[in-house]
Amino acid sequence: MANSLTQRTEEKQSANGSSLLEIEDLKVYYDTINGAAKAVDGVNLTVRRGEILGIAGESGCGKSTLTTALLRLTQAPGYIAGGRIMFHRMDGDPIDLLKLSGEELRKVRWRNLSYLPQGSMNTLNPVLRIKEQFLDVMLEHSDMSKREAEKMIPNLLGQVNLEPYVANMHPHELSGGMKQRVTLAMAIALNSDLMVADEPTTALDVHVQRVVIQMLADLRDRLGMTMIVVTHDMAVHAELADRVAVMYAGDVVEVGDVRQIFKAPKHPYTQALINSIPRIGGERVRLAGITGNTPSPRNWPSGCRFHPRCPHAMPVCSEQAPALLEVTKDLNGMQPPLASCHLYTQAGGNDE
Ligand SMILES: Nc1ncnc2c1ncn2[C@@H]1O[C@H](COP(=O)(O)OP(=O)(O)O)[C@@H](O)[C@H]1O
Ligand SMILES: [Mg+2]
Repeated sequence: MANSLTQRTEEKQSANGSSLLEIEDLKVYYDTINGAAKAVDGVNLTVRRGEILGIAGESGCGKSTLTTALLRLTQAPGYIAGGRIMFHRMDGDPIDLLKLSGEELRKVRWRNLSYLPQGSMNTLNPVLRIKEQFLDVMLEHSDMSKREAEKMIPNLLGQVNLEPYVANMHPHELSGGMKQRVTLAMAIALNSDLMVADEPTTALDVHVQRVVIQMLADLRDRLGMTMIVVTHDMAVHAELADRVAVMYAGDVVEVGDVRQIFKAPKHPYTQALINSIPRIGGERVRLAGITGNTPSPRNWPSGCRFHPRCPHAMPVCSEQAPALLEVTKDLNGMQPPLASCHLYTQAGGNDE
């Protein structure tokens, strides 16, 4: 088993940099009494093998709705209203995750995708020992025998710096940080291609946050996993992400290398987001906060959804939705960022 794990890690690492997921015009809506809430509305995004892609944006912008859709875990009243999620497997043609059903879906999901849900440490079953919970996950989602699975548990716990005896404990005997590490170890148990972690550091104290951040970075390096890390906390992205996708009002408004996002943000919303991070030490440049309210997913503003709050809004911004496009050429060897903003389009006129 250890050998096949290592082999799989090597296979995965050899494909680093190629596309793993291509999300195309994805729409995920919720049915409500007052009409459809268009929580995710036209997202285009590529996830590359081996990267940690951060998904940023304020609460309510659609991060969790997007990531649960990627995992095909959307639940009523939510539904997929359109788009494709092309998954590039190592051993076969690309498949549209949205077209899979039943057994096919079950197989692909657990072999290829794993999930650390928001607040996952609180989802451990209080009456079962940690070991039993590992076995549940591993036996349900793979074809290994109980003995094989049992043998792997100490190693999995070791991957997140927990001692083997933790396997015999109940959740209430563990601290919050230890529980988060147990759920992390479960999420890596099947050494899947992609792990999605939703707010993995939220609700942990600062010290434990550091441990979890370090651990995620480490696991990516050692297991060759691709990760999507969702958090509203820009400081976590700064430390962990290779690239960051910034969401606003159900769409990705900018995506780029983490250094570019923090040093030279292109979209006015990203600029506002970066400027709202408190800085320790360095000169404190305080931009006026973003004025106005977050719009309702039942009634997005016309054109660019950020225009009512944007300090640079032009007439075209309320009339025409800007596409997500490359906005600069090569930036010191970094991939050029994509942003959806008329400041950088023909319609906006004044490029740079
Ligand atoms: N079950 C639901 N029914 C109706 N609206 C929902 C439901 N779940 C989420 N939403 C709405 O979808 C939008 C995006 O929510 P969510 O994806 O949880 O955002 P985030 O994870 O970025 O905080 C919000 O406006 C939220 O109110
Ligand atoms: Mg969320």
